[in-house]
Amino acid sequence: MKIEDLKKDAEKDHIPIMLDGGLQFLLDFIQKHEIKEILELGTAVGYSAINMALLDPLISVDTIEKDKERYLKACENVKRAGLEKQIRLIFDQIERVELTKCYDLIFVDAAKAQYRRYLEHFLKNLKGDGYMIFDNMNFHGLVKDPSLTHNRNTKMLVKKIASFQHYVQEDERFDIMMKEDIGDGILILRRKK
Ligand SMILES: C[S@@+](CC[C@H](N)C(=O)[O-])C[C@H]1O[C@@H](n2cnc3c(N)ncnc32)[C@H](O)[C@@H]1O
Repeated sequence: MKIEDLKKDAEKDHIPIMLDGGLQFLLDFIQKHEIKEILELGTAVGYSAINMALLDPLISVDTIEKDKERYLKACENVKRAGLEKQIRLIFDQIERVELTKCYDLIFVDAAKAQYRRYLEHFLKNLKGDGYMIFDNMNFHGLVKDPSLTHNRNTKMLVKKIASFQHYVQEDERFDIMMKEDIGDGILILRRKK
C-alpha cells in the first residue's frame, strides 16, 4: 500500500488528517531530534502514525482512537503497511487511558477543546527532555480572527484553543514555540530545564 493511496482514501471518506505542511514539519522534527518513542493522541485511520513509523524501524508509536470504525481501518492500514511491530493501536477514550511508559514525543491531534486536559493528563508520560506537539492551533485562521465564523460551537472551540495558548504561555513550567505559518498552526512545548 502506498502512503499516497492512504491519504487519498482518507480524503475521499472525509477523515480529518494532518495537512501536508504540518506533517512534513513533524517528520523533520522527529528526525532532527532523533525521536524514537512517540505517543499520538488521535489516530483517525493511521495516516500520521504510519508516516512517523516509516521514518525509521527503531521508531515506535502508541496511538489512541475512540471511533471504532476509524480504529479498525487504522488496524487494517497498519497491517497492510507491515508496521504492526512498530505501531500499537489503542481503542479507547484518550482521557481514560493510563500509561506508565515515558515518551520522547507526545503528538496531540484529537479534540481541540481538551488540549489542556490532555497536557495535564499525559505530562507524567513525557521524558524530562521530551516534547509535546499540538496541531490545529490556528483552527483555519479562526483563532486570529474569530469574526470569520458565526457558528456558536465553533466560536466556543476557537475561544478554548486561544485560552489554551494563553495558559501554556503563562505557565512557568514550560518553554513553548508557536509555528503559526506551518500546517494549521503548530505549538511545541518542552519542560523548562
Ligand atoms: C484530526 S484526527 C487525527 C488525524 C491523524 N493524527 C492523522 O493526521 O492521520 C482526530 C482524531 O481524534 C479522535 N478523537 C477525538 N477525541 C478523542 C478522544 N477523546 N479519545 C480518542 N480519540 C479521540 C477523533 O475520532 C479523530 O479520529
